[in-house]
Parts: sequence; structure tokens; C-alpha cells
Amino acid sequence: MDINELNPDVLSVKPSALRAFDHEISADPEIVKLTLGEPDFNVPEHIKQAAIDSINADQSHYPYYWGIQELRDAASTYYREKFGYQYSADQIVCTVGATEGLAASFKTLFQPGDGILIPMPAYPVYKAIAGINHLVPIMVDTTDTGCVLTPEQVKEAIATHPEVTIKGVVITDPSNPTGVVYSEEQLAALVPVFRDNHIWIISDEIYGELTYGVKHYSLSKWLPEQTIIINGLSKSHAMTGWRIGFVFGPTGVIDQIAKAHQFQVTTPTSIVQYASVEALTHGQNDAEAMRKIYQQRCEYLTQELDKLGMKYVKPRGAFYIFVKIPEECHQDSFTFAHQLAKNYHVGLMPGAPFGDPQALRISYASSNENLHAAVDALKKELTRVGAIAE
Ligand SMILES: Cc1ncc(COP(=O)(O)O)c(C=O)c1O
Repeated sequence: MDINELNPDVLSVKPSALRAFDHEISADPEIVKLTLGEPDFNVPEHIKQAAIDSINADQSHYPYYWGIQELRDAASTYYREKFGYQYSADQIVCTVGATEGLAASFKTLFQPGDGILIPMPAYPVYKAIAGINHLVPIMVDTTDTGCVLTPEQVKEAIATHPEVTIKGVVITDPSNPTGVVYSEEQLAALVPVFRDNHIWIISDEIYGELTYGVKHYSLSKWLPEQTIIINGLSKSHAMTGWRIGFVFGPTGVIDQIAKAHQFQVTTPTSIVQYASVEALTHGQNDAEAMRKIYQQRCEYLTQELDKLGMKYVKPRGAFYIFVKIPEECHQDSFTFAHQLAKNYHVGLMPGAPFGDPQALRISYASSNENLHAAVDALKKELTRVGAIAE
């Protein structure tokens, strides 16, 4: 069989470089990893118990493809109370993690050849899903504006790409990989340019509960008719492996997204859906205990990085710091990250897959002990190359 006869959109998408790097360094039994975006907490006990109860109650049949009514009712209330979302249960689809929500939304909103704006640095999955759907990703560098997309950058992207109709934009708020959180003013400023140019907003708010000293605002507040929200329980309830997400969108469009979702996955696992009802009805405070710990770790890391003279955009959410590799190192992100793994058994994510080959992403969803090891490794490496004095 000739592989090249397969769908070129799939052939041209590369497997996740992040997963590959993580897999590679995991071969070292001593490796301390601050790589993947994975909470280091367990699923709260009451949610686990609800899953066990669901199994024992034989809730093993096909749920309705949008997700069970109880879960969509619970999501409607929970996210209204948390962030002011205004969506009824029939405007919510339960998906297999946020990732499947992104895939179903891209598939539904855009046609092959449509342009989609991706503010960089960005979570690499957006570009991959755009590629699989034969879209044209237009990467907009936001490093000069504090990793926040501005209306001027959107206008410039439109002006410099007359050959493509820009139909969508992805806003990740709080951001992976920078931890940047948009202010109310920054979001409001973007609304006219999105509205006037009929640009669909895919608002990825999966880290919405993890902010430090600032409030999370949803773009749906201003432009609900053009906004699709992606959210889920992976980060807020440490349920990454359980695979449950939500898409919120206006009536009419959400019905079409539900179909794109149905014919890919049918619906998430029944037991997970019932357990997620428990998460949303009795787990309103679950994220708070984790958030406090992430905040302490973030404060520790930023203090230590400051002592090392390393540059980063101040993180105010999620659990990442995107830090510049000092020029004295003369190394790109993969070389530097390999070096740290080989010499000090510490794994940090290379920045290149996120769009900056001179940066590293540190995930502080990891123990204090691991964070100390990472700081120690950075200190040794920067001393070795002469970037800091001994
Ligand atoms: C910004 C962002 N969106 C979506 C996801 C995927 O979430 P899920 O595991 O629920 O598919 C991640 C995971 O790291 C993420 O960082």
C-alpha cells in the first residue's frame, strides 16, 4: 500500500512534538519532569465515588449524543455561576475532552481554505486541527504586546493576507504556554474587529478557574452570537484521563457542532458523564485547593527565575511559565532542553512547538521537590555557559 495515497491533510500533520519529547526523556529513570500540562493532583474522592456508583447502578447504556440532560443542566448552572456564561442546556454539547470540542467546532465552523488566526505562542493542537481540516493557519506573533492579541494585529493580519478569507480566531485565556490572562479591557477592545469582519471566536477557557489575583472574563460576554466556548474538567478537576469537555455556542450553530461530534465519537463514556454531574453540582470548590497550591508554586518559580535573571511574561493563570533561554546559551529550545535532561535529569518543554525556538515552557503542575530540581538545573546550566556568575 502506498501511504502517499492517504489523505494529504492527515499526512502533512506531524505527530505531537511535545508528546514525542516527553516520551523520549521518559526513558531516563531519574528524570524529573515539568513537561506535560497535567495536574499532579488526583481526581477528588467524591467524583471517584460517583463513578463507582454509576458503574454499580449499571449506567452503561448509550447516553444521548449531546450528553445526558443532567450533565448539560449542571454545566449550564456551574459555568453561569463561575464565569457568567449565558447558555441553556440545549446550547451545550458534552465532548471527549476539550480537544474533541475543538475538533468538532473547527470542522463545523470552517471550510477548506478558510484562514484561522492563531496568536503565538500557542498550544500546538490548534494548528494541527486546522491542518487536518485543510484550513490556513495564520500565526500572529504577540510577543511584542505581552502575548496578548490586539485589534491592530488582527487588522494587520487581514491586510497582509488578502488571498485568504479569515473566518476564525482562537483565543486561549488563560494561556498555554504563557499563563497570560486577558483583562476585561483587552477582550472588549477585540470585539469590534471580530464583529466587523465576521470572525468566529473559538474561546478556549479550559484554565478559567486557575487564575492568580486576576479575574477570568469570557469573550461570550460581548459577542455570544459569534463565540464558541471550549471548556471542560481536565484542569479544574484534575480529570485529564477521564476525557470530558464542553462546547457552548449559539442555537443553530451548536446543533451543527453536535452532529460533527456525534459522527466522530457518539458521546463521552456514560460513567464519566454521571461522575461529572457530581463534579459540577458538588465540586464547585474542588479547583480552589489546587489553585492555591499552583499560585504558591508560581510565586516560588518566578522569584527564582528573577534571581537567575531569566525573562518571561508574568503568568497570571494556568500552570505554566514561558521563559526565554538566555542569549549566552547559544542554543535553540530543543538543544537546551535535551541538555538539561541529559546533564541534570530535568525535563522542561522546548518552546519551538509553541512558536518560540528560544524559549522553554515550565509546567508547575509538579511537586515542590521537582520545582527545586528544575531551578537547580537551570542555575547549574546558566553558570556553566557563563550566563550567571558562580
Ligand atoms: C489550552 C488547552 N486547550 C485544550 C487542552 C486539552 O484539554 P483536554 O485534555 O480536555 O482535551 C489543553 C491541554 O493541555 C490545553 O492546554
